Order: sequence, then structure tokens, then C-alpha cells
Amino acid sequence: MKSNCTVLKAVRHGASVLSSADNPQLEAEVLLSHYLNESRSWIAAHPEKFLSETTLASYNCSLQMRNEGEPLPYLLGYWEFFGISFTVDKRALIPRPETETIVEHSISIAGKHPNSRIVDVGTGCGAIAIALALNLPDALLFASDISLDALSLARTNSLRHAVHNRIEFVQADLLTGMGKFDVICANPPYLTTQEACTLSVGKHEPRLALDGGRNGLNIVRKLISTAGKHLNKGGSLLMEIGNSSDKILKMAKYYFGSADCSMVPDLAGRPRMLKITT
Ligand SMILES: C[S@@+](CC[C@H](N)C(=O)[O-])C[C@H]1O[C@@H](n2cnc3c(N)ncnc32)[C@H](O)[C@@H]1O
Repeated sequence: MKSNCTVLKAVRHGASVLSSADNPQLEAEVLLSHYLNESRSWIAAHPEKFLSETTLASYNCSLQMRNEGEPLPYLLGYWEFFGISFTVDKRALIPRPETETIVEHSISIAGKHPNSRIVDVGTGCGAIAIALALNLPDALLFASDISLDALSLARTNSLRHAVHNRIEFVQADLLTGMGKFDVICANPPYLTTQEACTLSVGKHEPRLALDGGRNGLNIVRKLISTAGKHLNKGGSLLMEIGNSSDKILKMAKYYFGSADCSMVPDLAGRPRMLKITT
């Protein structure tokens, strides 16, 4: 049944409900286009169309949830990473653009060596492993996570992109029980417990994906201290970091001795990825 609400009215209403968002109009349009199953350009071209009662009810409900802090990707059920659409839900962290640096560096390292063995530690929704499978047709890929929920979502995404036969998914505590690799990729939990409890991200995304312990370095340290024995000669560890880059670099030099350890900055010049080459 048709409601008496037009597309234009719905967008205006949405933008006013989401007035505290960074870009209220954009978010309202994205949500409305999702429920209408139309593009944003269709919305712009059809301001006079009437919404059905069902679409209007779903849209209004999503506006309310978004206003209460629910991340936009969870409301949509998908999110783009490295130009690839991933199914996302509460089982795993929403992949972030800064993590694409790990994928870019892995491709540049492994692209020169066919049949490289690569592992994505703490794969979450499978973003890194699947992006690598799609870009490195000869690589041998593994993805671990301690969370069975995350692994089930990662498998769903690997099926969606038809790379399920290319990636071995393993439930493991970091690299425990796994073999040796040419590239180890990881975006480990690196918030402090306090940050994970107080920041809005911790209210909506899995705590297990965020909480790195009292100083945020528990998982980082465990991975750096154990990765060496899982790396082939000439292999690399690529790990996203949050704060404490000086401490982490020191830690890397302590555990890796003569290896080449450095921090790779993001576009804003902040150190965001540890790179170790043995
Ligand atoms: C920050 S999320 C990263 C998810 C995904 N790689 C990404 O970049 O979007 C960290 C992931 O590590 C997993 N994790 C936490 N502790 C772990 C552990 N001890 N061993 C393996 N995975 C762990 C979490 O379940 C979560 O999926």
C-alpha cells in the first residue's frame, strides 16, 4: 500500500533525524536507496514518487537505529573494502579503509613470488584474505580467527566471491598450530580495555575484535613475540597498529633482532602499520 510520503519528504525527514551525523543528507539517501532498492541517482531523479507503507516503516526504523549509534554498514548489511562488497553483521568488525594498506603491501610483496603462503590473522569478516585471494591468483591463503562467529561470516563472504576453495579457514589463537608463511597479515585488537568499554565503537562492534587489554598491547605483543617462528626466510609481518608506535617498534626490534622493522604511515602521516621483513 502506498504511503503519503514522497521520496523528497523522506530524505528531508531522514536528514533532520540524522542531524548529528557527519553527512545527514548522504546517510538518509543511502538508507532510503537501500530500502527502495534503487540508486541514489534514482532518488535524486524521482523526488515526487510515493513510498510504500512497508518501505517507509523500514526506513523510519533504520533512521531511529542509526540515530542511536548503530553503524551504517550494519544497517545496510554490506560494506565496501578494497573495492569489494562484504556482507557485514554483528559477528565481526566492519572493515576500515586504513586496513587496505595491509592488502596493498601484501600484494606488492607476494605478487613477485607466485605460490606465496599468506595468512590473515584475526580475519573477522574475511576482508584481507578475500581481497588477497581476488588479487593474487597463485597465492596459498589461510585465515585464522579465535571467533567461530567471525569465521562463519568470513566463509559466507568467501562463497559470495567464489574464493572459498582458495582460503583455508582455521579457528586458532593467533598462529598457534599453524605452519610457516611468507606473509603474515594482521589487524589485531589494539584498543585499551577502557577505550573498548567507553568508545561508541565498543557498544556496537564485537569486543573481542577491539579489546587489546589494559594497555591495548596484549595481542600485539603476543603476535610479535610468536610470529618469528612462523615466518619463512625473507618473509614479512604486516600489522595494523593504533597508538604506541614507538613502543611497538621497540618491541619488534627486540623480538626480531637484525630484521628490517619499520612503521608505514597512513595518508595523514600517522604511523599505522608495522612492517617487519626477515
Ligand atoms: C580488529 S578485528 C580485525 C578484523 C579484520 N581482519 C579486519 O581488518 O576488518 C580483530 C579480529 O581478531 C580476532 N581475534 C581476537 N583475538 C584473537 C586471537 N587471540 N586469535 C585470533 N584472532 C583473534 C577477533 O575475533 C577479530 O575478528
